Amino acid sequence: MAVQITGIGMNLPSKSMTNSDFEKILDTSDQWITERTGIKVRYFSDKDQAASDLAYPACLEAIEKAKISKDSIDLIIVATVTPDYLFPTTACILQNRLGLPPTPAFDLLAGCTGFIYAAEVARNFLESQRYKCILVVAVEELTKILDLQDRNTAVLFGDGAAAAIFQHIEGDTGILSSYISADGSKHQNLILPAGGSKNPASIESINNKMHYIKMDGKAVFRDAVSMMISSTKEALSRANLNKEDIDLFIPHQANIRIIQSITKYFEIEQSKVHITVDKYANISSATIPIALYDAMSCGKIKNGMKVLLTAFGAGFTYGAMVIEF
Ligand code: ACO
Repeated sequence: MAVQITGIGMNLPSKSMTNSDFEKILDTSDQWITERTGIKVRYFSDKDQAASDLAYPACLEAIEKAKISKDSIDLIIVATVTPDYLFPTTACILQNRLGLPPTPAFDLLAGCTGFIYAAEVARNFLESQRYKCILVVAVEELTKILDLQDRNTAVLFGDGAAAAIFQHIEGDTGILSSYISADGSKHQNLILPAGGSKNPASIESINNKMHYIKMDGKAVFRDAVSMMISSTKEALSRANLNKEDIDLFIPHQANIRIIQSITKYFEIEQSKVHITVDKYANISSATIPIALYDAMSCGKIKNGMKVLLTAFGAGFTYGAMVIEF
């Protein structure tokens, strides 16, 4: 028996924003954004569209693709840094919206590594036989916490949702290895400073724009590269595999130069690396499952292929997973 993703869905807001659109509101250029990040387009949710609204269609698609009845879901985990509310959780809102009977449901916050963290939790609950069918959702509306006047961050992020059903399957395929970790020593380098108990919402916090993402881009860049390299090595070692055994690499899609630094280090040919940063930008926890969905939709993932996911995010959190499909 193994743990496998048996269905996956995704959903994007309808409104897109190109680099040229940003040229009209910021001192930036398509050339700068493309050369420094690889990003061309990102999606913006509507003002009244909450994370659960974005996630709901992705959940329905995953359920349909897995060919399960909604009632067989026995746990919901939502990875997000942009929930509908601080509480109640987006997982509870989705449990109700999906019309499920009382089902355990919780949110998990692990920045851009959120999907890998949630998948690891799901895997362990399934392997311990505690649950049989788990819905993992990764959804972000980062544009709601972006200062659109700050060119250092405004152009980097977008919105989107993905959902995946994790179940036991017969045979040896499925999740071959996983690794998660965190190092909080540099947590200030990527932070949403206000809105929590440290800096509750106040006139001062609003005036100081403390409800927007603050990031030291250069520091984040360096740690993203080294932490995704170490996670990749650990996931390969735990699966008893070499990099040559991997058919497709799906790294977190924050910046094409971060991805290039990692693939250069491992000497991985470009055809084995799936890229979506150009068309969706960085969607934090939703990036990895959206890229996985995208690779499946383009026919890049066939039965028997081994795929390595690796991510890095606020915290800093990091992790990697090898899945055989
Ligand atoms: N348009 C034009 N110029 C810009 C822009 C912009 N959008 N943004 C910054 N600049 C300017 C800077 O002001 C600076 O100007 P100066 O030299 O006059 O001061 C110049 O460009 C160079 O800035 P750098 O910070 O040196 O640019 P760098 O090459 O480091 O690229 C970037 C910046 C893209 C942010 C990069 O550091 C990066 O990608 N870091 C990682 C960010 C990231 O991945 N974050 C999320 C990861 S975790 C998660 O997903 C939650």
